[in-house]
Amino acid sequence: MKNSLGKNISRYRKLKNITQEELATQLNITFQAVSKWETNQTYPDITLLPHLASILEVSIDRLMGYTSHQEQKRTIYEDEYAQDGYYWGLAPSKLCYKILSMLPPAKPLKLLDIGCGEGKDAVFFARNGYQVTAFDIADAGIEKTKRLADNVGVYVNVFKADVLDFRLESNYDILYSNGVLHYLKPELRQEIFLNYQQHTSPQGLHVLSAFVTKPFIPPAPEQEPNAHSWRSGELFTLYSNWLIKECDEIIFDCNSSGLAHKHAMNIIAAEKP
Ligand SMILES: C[S@@+](CC[C@H](N)C(=O)[O-])C[C@H]1O[C@@H](n2cnc3c(N)ncnc32)[C@H](O)[C@@H]1O
Repeated sequence: MKNSLGKNISRYRKLKNITQEELATQLNITFQAVSKWETNQTYPDITLLPHLASILEVSIDRLMGYTSHQEQKRTIYEDEYAQDGYYWGLAPSKLCYKILSMLPPAKPLKLLDIGCGEGKDAVFFARNGYQVTAFDIADAGIEKTKRLADNVGVYVNVFKADVLDFRLESNYDILYSNGVLHYLKPELRQEIFLNYQQHTSPQGLHVLSAFVTKPFIPPAPEQEPNAHSWRSGELFTLYSNWLIKECDEIIFDCNSSGLAHKHAMNIIAAEKP
């Protein structure tokens, strides 16, 4: 907890665009004290936490790296994944094949699946020889991913994490995410993508899809308070310094809630120079 507290104070302070000195002044303490918190040398005094959290506009729970039970159940998929069977089926997404053809595992390659759902794609990658790490916010999805990997005799390093809080601390060769990036709040996207890109090996690959808003597509029937569709083309602008190997916009039919509807999606495959 000590580590995540310091890191979180630093992260939320930077997101608010305030310096250590400014934060210290508001709390009536020295900037050295803030610096010590952020480098995990000391804890803030407990009585300062409410004021600190209110300045940073974040809950004390989040600051401490704790996700409440109510917050944990933030995905509509938790209950779906708890049912028998596989909500998304077992066939890998078409996007997976782009990775196989663009960066086949001729040498050991570390791949991260962001928002792996029930693990169909993560397990597919592991079966094909990639070293796979995967996370999702849904407990039931993580359990199913583990079970699926066990059943076919491969290993996937899978864990629970919230895409809003998760940051890379080591390098990956490939980042993959299908149908998840709309859970990223728009104001966090620049920072999170910078982190993803900085922790990608040279010649590494990102293959990502993101739901986008189009004026002629009605909103999907699933009411997801934490979802924020991307602007059409927005995802591509984050990769202006990379080699864009493929970018596309597709419209497709979906029946995920039992009601026929359409989605618009941007897809990118980009290589780090
Ligand atoms: C449309 S599903 C896609 C699942 C998987 N990528 C696939 O293609 O089968 C969206 C996934 O995002 C996960 N999710 C929702 N909010 C999340 C968050 N804040 N952090 C991590 N995963 C999240 C859901 O649990 C769900 O598994």
